[in-house]
Amino acid sequence: MKNTLSKDIDLKGKKVLLRVDLNVPMKNGAITETSRIEKIIPTIELLSEKQAKIIILSHIGRPKGRVVKEMSLKPISEKLSILLKKNVMFNNSAINERINSELNQISNGSIVMLENIRFNKEEESNDINFAKKISDLGDVYVNDAFSCSHRSHASIDAITKYIPSYFGLQIAQEISALERITSKIEKPVSLIIGGSKISTKFKIINNLIKKFDNIVIVGGMANTILKHIGKNVGNSICEINSGSLVKEIFENSKKYNCKIILPNDVVVSKSLNGSGIEKDTDAVSDNEMILDIGPKTISSIEKIINSSKTVLWNGPAGYFENTNFQNGTKKILDAISRRSINEKIFSVAGGGETVAAINKFKKSKSFTFISTAGGAFLEYLEGKTLPGIKALNKDV
Ligand code: 3PG
Repeated sequence: MKNTLSKDIDLKGKKVLLRVDLNVPMKNGAITETSRIEKIIPTIELLSEKQAKIIILSHIGRPKGRVVKEMSLKPISEKLSILLKKNVMFNNSAINERINSELNQISNGSIVMLENIRFNKEEESNDINFAKKISDLGDVYVNDAFSCSHRSHASIDAITKYIPSYFGLQIAQEISALERITSKIEKPVSLIIGGSKISTKFKIINNLIKKFDNIVIVGGMANTILKHIGKNVGNSICEINSGSLVKEIFENSKKYNCKIILPNDVVVSKSLNGSGIEKDTDAVSDNEMILDIGPKTISSIEKIINSSKTVLWNGPAGYFENTNFQNGTKKILDAISRRSINEKIFSVAGGGETVAAINKFKKSKSFTFISTAGGAFLEYLEGKTLPGIKALNKDV
């Protein structure tokens, strides 16, 4: 790929601003899954070999321009340091001239991670003055965050206007794998979509309907639709303002002949730590949460997987972190895995939580390709040009 970081670029003593995606799952302050951290290691090692001064920019969560203590990148910098077996300094200063002079002091080959870039409200508005300020911290910019490249944010998009910019090794690998896979998609093609980033994904589903034969909706996404069609979802995670999008999804599914599959039975509990009770979706009480799909739903999803030649999966079917609610996610994984191995179908999975589930159930060898990206992966499938990629596809 054009503009990819390569062995011939001289970066000795240069300050390299490396944008990565360290949006990893955390529980009570501890990182529960490290794939996204591990994937950036090759680019960091290459930059270290080149004796660059590495300045890591990233985000975790959606702090919406405010400092949220629980969303600090400090614990991630510590984890990266352990994985790299090398010191990773952490700097939580605001982005201004003072931090610039601090960064000028670091030695060649060393690594410093800055605090969550989304603590700055100008990040998500792709503010050009803020992008210029970030670019002033370095000599070269590298985007190695495919999973954030669907966001037109200052540290992904506008920054590339002010500084020589390159693709990192991981993003280049993800793009070329997805290019190969999407050009080979064979029908029937099914998408299984779940997880908790509801509103973003509804818009994407609406666009994907034209390309898919089946869309299976599970997890928090399904709760929102169930509520919209008049079912009681109790205290389940769900969004109340997505009514018009849900309506559009149903209309488009008829128009484009795409079957939408929703849970007809679920596993509920009064708390995330509780045990589960199987119920039909008509029988959920006000004080219960839907935390997994039930056996009838699992069996209809298995039938869909068994009749598909391409299966794409993004987002778990339930709260799989608690073993009482892992069955749906595990059974989907087993079915895709069996079919990928026996029938050699194309199976692609993407997303932070999805990768966490695949690793938990040790199925990473069963897919044709696993992307660290969730939203970016889905937008890529829609055929959209991602802003972070567009920004780099210009001459350096
Ligand atoms: C992701 O986890 O998909 C990326 O980090 C992007 O996060 P966002 O959906 O909060 O922009």
